[in-house]
Amino acid sequence: MDTPVPVRSSIEEIAEYKPGRLVEGAGAIKLSSNENPLGPSPEVVRVIIDSLEVDRLKLSIYPRKRDEVELRAAIAGYLGASTDTDTDTDIDIDPESIVIGAGIDGVLDTIVKIFISAVNGDEAVIPVPTFSLYETLVKIAGGTPRYITRRRDADFDIPLTKLIAACNEKTRLIFIASPNNPTGNCIAESDVRALAESVAGTTMVVIDEAYVEFAGADADADASSNVNVSSTSLVNLVNEYENLLVLRTFSKAFGLAGLRIGYAVIPEWLVSVYNKVAIPFSVNNLGLKAAAAALKDKVHLRRSISVVKSGRAFLTQNLRGLFTVYPSQANFLLLDVAPKRSYEVCDALEEYGIAVRDCSSFRGAGDSLVRISVGTREQNAKVVAALKGIG
Ligand SMILES: Cc1ncc(COP(=O)(O)O)c(C=O)c1O
Repeated sequence: MDTPVPVRSSIEEIAEYKPGRLVEGAGAIKLSSNENPLGPSPEVVRVIIDSLEVDRLKLSIYPRKRDEVELRAAIAGYLGASTDTDTDTDIDIDPESIVIGAGIDGVLDTIVKIFISAVNGDEAVIPVPTFSLYETLVKIAGGTPRYITRRRDADFDIPLTKLIAACNEKTRLIFIASPNNPTGNCIAESDVRALAESVAGTTMVVIDEAYVEFAGADADADASSNVNVSSTSLVNLVNEYENLLVLRTFSKAFGLAGLRIGYAVIPEWLVSVYNKVAIPFSVNNLGLKAAAAALKDKVHLRRSISVVKSGRAFLTQNLRGLFTVYPSQANFLLLDVAPKRSYEVCDALEEYGIAVRDCSSFRGAGDSLVRISVGTREQNAKVVAALKGIG
């Protein structure tokens, strides 16, 4: 790379992150980044406005430890009460095992810094197609990503034997998004257990549950008050395995993507290591307060999940006749538009003022996959009408 001052050679290989497209203008619909179509809880907005008006936030002061401790306790309560287990009893998440960062992205950055070193030739195993930041961060750190391909003929299931076979004594991290972006499917708990056990002592298993609140059966559009917040989260496994951690976020079900707040539940031994490496104060005063307020508004959370589950069912039913639609546990759907190419469909939708994600930039996705975030009922109806026009 020809730069006025030499930069690290590992950066040469890295592709710049491509965010979801933005379409502008009146009536434009953005379904390209898996955001919450309802936005944040009105309670969160009120808390932010109130705090600013009376200067309760004290913007001239660095974020206070007390606010972070309070948020960690609230997250532990939320996770404990909202996680299904075989015994159907609440699970015990220790607030001390929770670390908070600037989105899952920020937490991932710290995790990769902890485990991947160029000097040792460290490796990470990544089933693809998936979220591109895993590979980018590993490359920046000078590590080597190893890819295994998800089984397209089996709704992008991960071939467990191949995954385990791809690991060796240099493998430090395995990244598994569940539900996965862009394929929408989850990994089975039994597979995660088998994996964690087979790589114990050498490798951390990273489970990214950015979309897990949306996992589970589709809901009736009018059942918002009855939607169960409990999810198929694997967060309870952190209590059992020393080499497993789970990432979660406020960006999706809580509608706070713009504030950048994510967290991880990590084994006890890793907490002090994490705190040495993480950038201090990477989550700001506003984010800490907003996240705590968001956790309190269960009605908004239920409504957000309900809108996604009913919209997901509507889109699936209406698009199945036009394209291959993969089953999704997330707030988006993946379509195979072959024999059309993904860019053709995305460009055509843009003419209707609708932005969706062309997945050809995802490693291993090929050139006919399109990801559509679930929107409001009205937005979903417009997408279906437009795709019928195109399809
Ligand atoms: C699988 C996955 N993990 C993490 C993120 C980023 O989450 P955050 O906004 O918390 O950084 C995304 C965003 O799209 C994602 O798809």
